[in-house]
Amino acid sequence: MLEILDGLGVSYKSVSSTIEEDTVELIKQILEEEAAGGAAATTDAAPAQNQSAQPQSTQTAQTEAQSAAAPQSAATATAEREPEVAAPAAPETPHRAPVVTIMGHVDHGKTSLLDYIRKTKVAAKEAGGITQHVGAFEAKTSKGKIVFIDTPGHEAFTTIRARGANVADIAIIVIAADDSLMPQTREAIAHAQAAKVPMLIAINKVDLPQADPERVKTDLTQLNLVPEEYGGDLVVVPVSAKTGEGVEDLLEYISLTAELEDLRADPKGNFSGVIIESRVDRQAGVLATVMVQEGTLHVGDFLVVGENYGKIKAMTDSGGGRIKEAGPSTPVQVLGFSEAPASGETVLSAKNEHAAREVIAQRASDRRDAENARVQRKRTLEEMMGP
Ligand code: GTP
Ligand code: MG
Repeated sequence: MLEILDGLGVSYKSVSSTIEEDTVELIKQILEEEAAGGAAATTDAAPAQNQSAQPQSTQTAQTEAQSAAAPQSAATATAEREPEVAAPAAPETPHRAPVVTIMGHVDHGKTSLLDYIRKTKVAAKEAGGITQHVGAFEAKTSKGKIVFIDTPGHEAFTTIRARGANVADIAIIVIAADDSLMPQTREAIAHAQAAKVPMLIAINKVDLPQADPERVKTDLTQLNLVPEEYGGDLVVVPVSAKTGEGVEDLLEYISLTAELEDLRADPKGNFSGVIIESRVDRQAGVLATVMVQEGTLHVGDFLVVGENYGKIKAMTDSGGGRIKEAGPSTPVQVLGFSEAPASGETVLSAKNEHAAREVIAQRASDRRDAENARVQRKRTLEEMMGP
């Protein structure tokens, strides 16, 4: 919208500035033309939905639930999709729950927002009231299962935020309405952009008397992130982790975004996952949080991470309950590694201990070869440059 106004040479001071009736008509025309152009470029009706400022409980959002309940509606949904996706008639890979990473500046209310969604009180129990690690949680919401990853906002935890963005399907940037954009807000946005993850903005703490959500929106436009109501495509949802205002809308947007991403994984496929975090517990030993991305993890499986392996002795879900197996989009805490695996590393499974050792031996040998090649290159270079 601001771009259009600039283009037309119309001056404005803020979002509440008034503009001439003729200008309004002109802008409408331009937007309609743009929308028409956008729709022609894709056969998917979804982008049009995305431009609406209001969360909608659209049919698409309910398709999955309906198809689970009524087989014939699943058939209709498939039939409708066929003309645009010329997919072979292979059995469809099942949908999986979205992994949503919450990022933002320190104290803007990320953990509180998750507490509201999960009906927990994690924020109140944190040392010094700040998050110092990632937490991965499964939440049963009105929109089905959503996996949330909470990240710290303190400036010291840049790497944790970057990793959080990398495992995400969707990033939620939490911005406090009384504080607007702060250094780690900008950093979080940059991580989401670098990871090419769709981003939703939650303007939190709108219950505060000094809350100024409009300022947050104008500040966002400075970063070329234009909220939908200003004519851009950025979804901005005002929320309060204290009163719960707007939280349902946020969940609705998450579910719509997930639907557009068409997230799928095969629980019967080969297992792969990623290490979210790991720590050494004095009594239990090494505890690693693994996000299952493909396939299914079982107690007794052998896992390989880098040049380290372990046999799963026990597994707990994010609620702390013992489980025997875990499918796609499930964060689990795994007991069984002898050394703490590095966060962000890929995890694969091996048939047995022998196979696990073989994979590791191969990786170690590849690494030595690469190192030798590097030394060799350096030597050759030195000889060439020699006296
Ligand atoms: P870090 O993890 O350290 O980056 O902080 P955080 O973003 O997780 O913030 P946290 O949830 O710990 O909340 C920080 C403070 O803001 C706490 O005192 C919360 O009670 C308060 N707070 C969070 N959300 C809201 C809200 O919507 N309204 C009000 N009034 N206070 C809130
Ligand atoms: Mg926190």
